[in-house]
Parts: sequence; C-alpha cells; structure tokens
Amino acid sequence: MISRRNFVKNISLGTVSLIVLGCGGKSKGKTSIGANQAIPNTPTTRDKLFVPPLIDTRNTTTDLWVRVSEASILDAKKTSTYSYNTATDTLGLLGPTLLMERNMTSSLNFINELDVETTAHQHGLHVSGNNDGGPQSKILPGESRTNILEIDQPAGTHWYHPHPHGKTGEQVIKGLAGLIVIQDPEEINLLPNLPRHYGINDLPIIIQDKTFSDDGAIQYNTQKSYGKRGYLGDNILVNGQIQPIVSTPSGWIRFRILNGSNARFYERGDSLSFSNQQPFYVIASDGGLLSNPVSTTSLPIGPGERYEIMVNINQNQQFDLMAGDRIILSLIADLSTYDNSQSILPTVLANVPQALNQKNNVTRTFELSEKMTINGKKMDMAVIDEAVTIDTTEVWYIHGKGARHTFHVHGCSFLIVDRNGANVPDWEKGWKDTVIISGKRPVKVLVKFNKIADRNSPYMYHCHMLEHEDMGMMGQFIVT
Ligand code: C2O
Ligand code: CU
Ligand code: CU
Repeated sequence: MISRRNFVKNISLGTVSLIVLGCGGKSKGKTSIGANQAIPNTPTTRDKLFVPPLIDTRNTTTDLWVRVSEASILDAKKTSTYSYNTATDTLGLLGPTLLMERNMTSSLNFINELDVETTAHQHGLHVSGNNDGGPQSKILPGESRTNILEIDQPAGTHWYHPHPHGKTGEQVIKGLAGLIVIQDPEEINLLPNLPRHYGINDLPIIIQDKTFSDDGAIQYNTQKSYGKRGYLGDNILVNGQIQPIVSTPSGWIRFRILNGSNARFYERGDSLSFSNQQPFYVIASDGGLLSNPVSTTSLPIGPGERYEIMVNINQNQQFDLMAGDRIILSLIADLSTYDNSQSILPTVLANVPQALNQKNNVTRTFELSEKMTINGKKMDMAVIDEAVTIDTTEVWYIHGKGARHTFHVHGCSFLIVDRNGANVPDWEKGWKDTVIISGKRPVKVLVKFNKIADRNSPYMYHCHMLEHEDMGMMGQFIVT
C-alpha cells in the first residue's frame, strides 16, 4: 500500500517540471525521486504518462495486430505482454485509442498473431451481434476478422478487449485493452469548448491492477479459482504504468477514465479522488454525456465502467489522482506551451431522458450468484438464455446474493431508474452499459435494443469481474 505519508516523505515533485508531455508520445521520461524501499514495485523513477496513440478509424479499415509483446513496467525488468498494434506502432501494452464518429463506419480488422484463439469485442458500441466480437466470433491463431461498426450513438468513451470463452481474464491482464472515442459533430457544435485535445487536455486514463512476480512477469493463475473477489493485483497501473506523472496545461482538463481492471472496484474507501480533496465534475457515464456536470470529491467505478471527469488545475499546481489512499497518477500544470484558456465546464451538457416509456414492458430478472451463475445457470455457448424483440424497451431487474458484481449488457445502453429505494447517484443518471450490483438490492434498468443479434452471434450479459465471467457468470441473448 502506498500511503499519503510515504508520498510526502519520498517524492520531491520539484523535479517533475523537467518532463514535457508529448501528444501520443511513447518515450519514457524518467525523473529521479527518492527510493521507496518499503513498497514493492514502487518506481524509483517516475514515468511520464503513456498516452496510447490516437488512430482515426473513420470510414476506413484499420488493421490491428494482436501480438505477444514486451513492456517496461518495472524498474530494470521486462514484462512479457500482449498488445494491439498498428502498422506503424508497436505498443508494449494495451492498444491505440480508436477515434470513431457518429454516422460514420469504422471497420476494424483484427489479425491474431497469438498462438491462442481470441475475439475482439467493442464494449459499449451498439453494433449487430455479428460485429460484436463475443465468444462466438473466434479468431483462430493466424486468422483475422473484421468487425464493421456503423456508429449511431452519442459521443462517448468505450473500449475494446478480447472475449474468448473462459479466457478473457487472462488475455486482458496480459495487456489486451484499448479505448474507443466516439465523437459527434453535433455535440462539438453545441459544446465547442469542452476539452478535446487528445493527450493534452483530454486524457485517456485506463486503470488496471496487476501483480508481478520477481522476474517481472504478470502473475495470473489460470488454474486457480479467484473466487468471490476475483483477481486483485498488488499494483494499480494507469495506462500500463505504476504511478506515472502527467504534465498538463493549466485550466480545465478532461479525463476519460476506464476501469479496465479484471475485478477491482474503486469504490467506497477505494473510490477515485484527488489528493487535495479538490472537487471535480463528472460529465459523462458509460454511454455519453450526462445532462449536467455532477460535482463530487470522490467517484466509485467498477470493472468495465467508464466516466469522464473534468478538473480545474492552476498553473504549477500539483496533486495526485488517488484510488482510496493510493496514489495512481500525479498531475502538474506546467505545460505552458498550450493555451487552454478556451476550455470551459459547460453547465448544460446533453439531453438524457429521465425515463423511457415503461408501458407494458417485458420484464426480466437476473440473479448473480457466488456459484458463478446467472439465474442458476452457467454460461453455455450452445444455449440462448433470453430472446428480446428489437426496438422494444424492457425492464431488467438485476441483483446479487450478497457479494459485489458489475453487470454488463452488450449491444445497448440503459438507464438506471431505481436502486431499490436507495438513491441513484447523479453520475449514474446517464447512459450506462455496466452497473455496480451491490448485495441483494435489485437495480432496475430500462433497456432498449436497436440492433440484431441472431442465434449464430448472440449478445452477452455478464458480470464484468472477468474471473466471474470466465467461471460462467454470463448468459446469451438474441435480438430479433
Ligand atoms: Cu467488456 Cu462482454 O464485455
Ligand atoms: Cu461489452
Ligand atoms: Cu461477479
């Protein structure tokens, strides 16, 4: 554990101003800080935040090579990884950020150079089942598969990752995950002053935890059942780095935060916050902008969820992004070469319906159990569990039996309308596709499907704690 006290004692941020952030740059600017012996894997030098390159995928076909790779995550040790790579960029970890646009088509051609089968799923995108990359859409070693993504949903932050049956946790922990940014010209028109300069005032923040063995390898025991809590790594990484530092301009900075952890919740005492307790504003949930910014000093985020936040930083101010009492990223506003004075926090963001039409809805209930089942059943690739009629709005009640989970549904966004009496926090009153399920209280969501998923390529609903999913906490449904 990295405590605030240790940070103050050991890290002299005065040296940090030497670092200059490049847009999309991968070079590792190392800055010396005092050694911190007490904490395993605490870097003796701080990396500048790695910003995955931004690739324009609009109206074109983009090749992505899925490969074994290598990354420098720890001091003086290499870590064997998987990554998504482009023709021009070999990434040690993760994948490029893919820019898409509403009313345009992005075709992603995934080329599997691993020696195991994989799939490529675009989490959060409303695309038909045959382009969704679920467990049925196998890409065998040496083969490739193209997902054709006709984007017709609001601007938002999504992600892509593998989804092979029973193997998702292992492939994600090794490094396979990347962000998708959907932009919408109409939204840019309405809100021209939201920060949108990728890598400068609009930063991707992928939070994942990993345990490393002494030789630097990522420890993941495929034989072991991780049980109720799933995989919990010793280190919390941002964009594949332990405690990186980012130089920003002063003013409003936007973070696109993904909890890409296999099973770790940053919730309750482990919620995200800033070290100086500075308030920040949540502007978007999984599926796009909220109606208005929501001010808070701490934000819970479960596996698979995304939030966009805005924080105001003064010239030369420095503070840390925390997960509970651990520092996961340090920020310093010393990038004076970029004029960020145009960036503002709007008071009104988007038009999010407060409730969809709820008349005569089909209702379904989903019970997540520690036996790794949903409604008493484990995932069976040969079984279609539910059949939904296209363009209808359904009411889904999701509950657990005591432990925490996150429930994710493919091919849609939904609205959370009730947490059984408990308040729905304001940052959850936007479009979602993944929701924290705590204990036995049912969460009621309204969900509408606009795309087809047939028997050969059904959609999934599942717990997004990847070990739970891999152990069977998943079901299949069709939309016709
Ligand atoms: Cu993030 Cu079924 O996936
Ligand atoms: Cu998904
Ligand atoms: Cu679960």
